[in-house]
Amino acid sequence: MIDILQLVPLRPEVQKELEARYRVHGRQDFDKVAGIVRGCVTNGHSGPPPEMIDRMPKLEIIGSASVGYDGIPVEYARSKGIPVCNTPEVLNDDVADLAIALMIMTARNLVTTDRYVRSGGWAKNGEHPLARRASGKRVGILGMGRIGKEIAKRAEAMNNSVAYHSRRPTDVPYKYYADLVELAKNSDFLVVIIPSTPQTQKIVNKAVMEALGPTGILVNVARGAVVDEDALVEALKSGKLGGAGLDVFVNEPHVPPELIAMDNVVLQPHVGSATHETRIAMSQLVLDNLDAKFAGKPLLTEIK
Ligand code: 8YV
Repeated sequence: MIDILQLVPLRPEVQKELEARYRVHGRQDFDKVAGIVRGCVTNGHSGPPPEMIDRMPKLEIIGSASVGYDGIPVEYARSKGIPVCNTPEVLNDDVADLAIALMIMTARNLVTTDRYVRSGGWAKNGEHPLARRASGKRVGILGMGRIGKEIAKRAEAMNNSVAYHSRRPTDVPYKYYADLVELAKNSDFLVVIIPSTPQTQKIVNKAVMEALGPTGILVNVARGAVVDEDALVEALKSGKLGGAGLDVFVNEPHVPPELIAMDNVVLQPHVGSATHETRIAMSQLVLDNLDAKFAGKPLLTEIK
């Protein structure tokens, strides 16, 4: 049997299959099995770091149950001849759904209105203060990859116009802005769905948020690191930015207390892909890549 180092669990349905086909070792056994493992199961934030990779001379594949891979040294692994596979496509719908949900929840104040009912405010004080529309508006998308395209489709179905910024224009019918501040200036919502790379750290900065403006809403379903979180807190505090819907943070699971105290912010615990259906599909794709590798077949979703 082939030995596998497993840094994060897969969904139980798929975990059973993994354990039936491979000899699976947990992180706690790393010192004992580093010399024999041929595969590694992880996710986008759990490594293995280069030092661990160096200690696994037999390693032939890293399979990550995530589309993002900012926590995996992909180029380093590749330089040692070890391919890294991620799980694109299968989570597109879930992440796009969440982006739209955050747009609507933030614009329509759906967290505070829910609280208003539960706390008895409605019965006591009558109508809740008015909110803002989430349709018929201008949606700017930062990142027009696979998930960005799904967000755009949904935004259009709500009669929103769509425009975008990315490194370069791509094959979509939406208006392209070469300058992110210009996109923000011309958007009511800015939805962030770009990978976290050294080039995109804090790309959503003070100038971008102020361009989005006092009635603008920022939605982030990508990675916390692509938004300047301190500038975000400041912009929301000063009213220079209208609101934010956030699924991701710089230092997860810790969320700045200032954000927690704000009513114009909707917070989620990084649940973009967190449905049974999608997490099973992600797990399955990790296993399928391992199986392909060890059957000598082409990998399904290698990061190139
Ligand atoms: C999860 C994600 O954080 O796919 C990604 O990039 O952010 C998520 O789906 C996670 O890695 C699931 O294990």
